[in-house]
Parts: sequence; structure tokens; C-alpha cells
Amino acid sequence: MSNRPRIVGYAIVSREGMIAKSDGSFPEELKIPADQQFYQGSLDRAAAVANGRHSAEGGPKEKGRKRILVTRRVQRIVHDADNPNMILWNPATAPFDEAWQKLGADDGILAVVGGTDVFGLFLSIGYDAFFLSRALASVPRGRPVFPGVGNGVAAEEPLKQHGLVLKETRMLDPVSETVVQEWGPK
Ligand SMILES: NC(=O)c1ccc[n+]([C@@H]2O[C@H](COP(=O)([O-])OP(=O)(O)OC[C@H]3O[C@@H](n4cnc5c(N)ncnc54)[C@H](OP(=O)(O)O)[C@@H]3O)[C@@H](O)[C@H]2O)c1
Repeated sequence: MSNRPRIVGYAIVSREGMIAKSDGSFPEELKIPADQQFYQGSLDRAAAVANGRHSAEGGPKEKGRKRILVTRRVQRIVHDADNPNMILWNPATAPFDEAWQKLGADDGILAVVGGTDVFGLFLSIGYDAFFLSRALASVPRGRPVFPGVGNGVAAEEPLKQHGLVLKETRMLDPVSETVVQEWGPK
């Protein structure tokens, strides 16, 4: 039986806190090579990934990673019929710890990679860290990183409301002035 993982979120947001455009597509403005390198490198070190239906990371390593797909399409936690590395979990019907046990991943990091509702769900379960990459590019409307962000509510606000504090800010890409903020418990 494995212990609860270290739960770590990863997102890149526009100036206004958006992760995607209104039509659900990933904005070109947020495709920053240094951030993608940081993100994929972080996933390489994780024991598993959690995401909603449209937010898997893509790339050749995706299928090989242990994964919790968050979905309302199942009642019980089940293994995906086509991918033995993936379980389908409906958080309304089973607690997170049950999903984690069923996944059978190694101890380590569970990387939470979105989208909006999944990032919000794990605010209540509890992040051990959240890496918030901030681009200067503007995507004024669309899907926010957390429910309620936008219209003057900053991306950091829900993290603060859930007791997380800013630990460090690092420059990821001086040309685009993209930084990554590390948030963690006090
Ligand atoms: N900039 C970034 O860092 C970043 C990060 C992540 C995603 N994105 C982008 O955001 C877009 C997708 O966003 P999205 O909001 O559509 O997200 P999504 O979370 O990938 O997909 C939404 C689906 O996930 C499932 N889901 C989400 N929350 C759930 C909950 N609490 N309980 C049960 N099921 C839940 C539902 O699937 P079912 O229909 O199966 O029930 C829902 O229809 C994509 O363009 C993606 O590339 C950007």
C-alpha cells in the first residue's frame, strides 16, 4: 500500500490568469519553450499525473506515465480499457486516497496538470506545491487556472485562500519575461 503522494500543480497562465482560450484551445502565446522544458522535465520526475479529459501533456511519454483521469463518466474507479497505466476517477463518488491506491504508482509526486476544475478540485485535496508559470502575454478571456479567476481576480488568489504562500520566483525565459512562482504551505 503506497502513502499519499506529494501533490504538485503545474500551470502556465496569461497576464489575466487564463490557461486556455474561450474555445478551449491552448493559446500560442503560452507556448514558451523554456516553460515546456521545465514542465516536461518535472513530469519526468513525477510518479504519476492527474488531469481532465483535455489536459494530458501530450508527447511520446504520455502513454507510459501512470495517470488519474478525472471524469464524471464513471461511478466506480476503473482501469482504462485501452491503457493499463490509467485509471478513471470520479471525485464525486470516491475519495482521492482510494484512487491513489488503485493507481498503484510508486511513492513520489503526483503532478496535477489541469484544466480549470481539476486545478480547483486539488485545492481542496491539498497541494504540497504549485508551480505557477506567468507569461506577460495577454489572453484576456478564456479558461482560468482556477474557478473564479479573471475579471480582476488574480491567479494567485485561490492559492492564498487555501493557505499557500509564495516561496520563490524564478526567471524561466528572460526574452519573454516568463517567470515561475513556487507556492507551498506556510
Ligand atoms: N496553460 C496551462 O497550464 C494549461 C493546463 C491545463 C490545460 N490547459 C488547456 O486547457 C484546455 C482544457 O481545459 P478544460 O477546462 O476543458 O479542462 P479538462 O479538465 O482537461 O477537461 C474537462 C473535463 O474533465 C473532467 N472533469 C473536470 N473536472 C472534473 C471533476 N471535478 N469531476 C469529474 N470530472 C471532471 C470532465 O470530463 P468528462 O467529460 O469525462 O466527465 C470535464 O468535461 C486545453 O486547451 C488545455 O490545453 C492549459
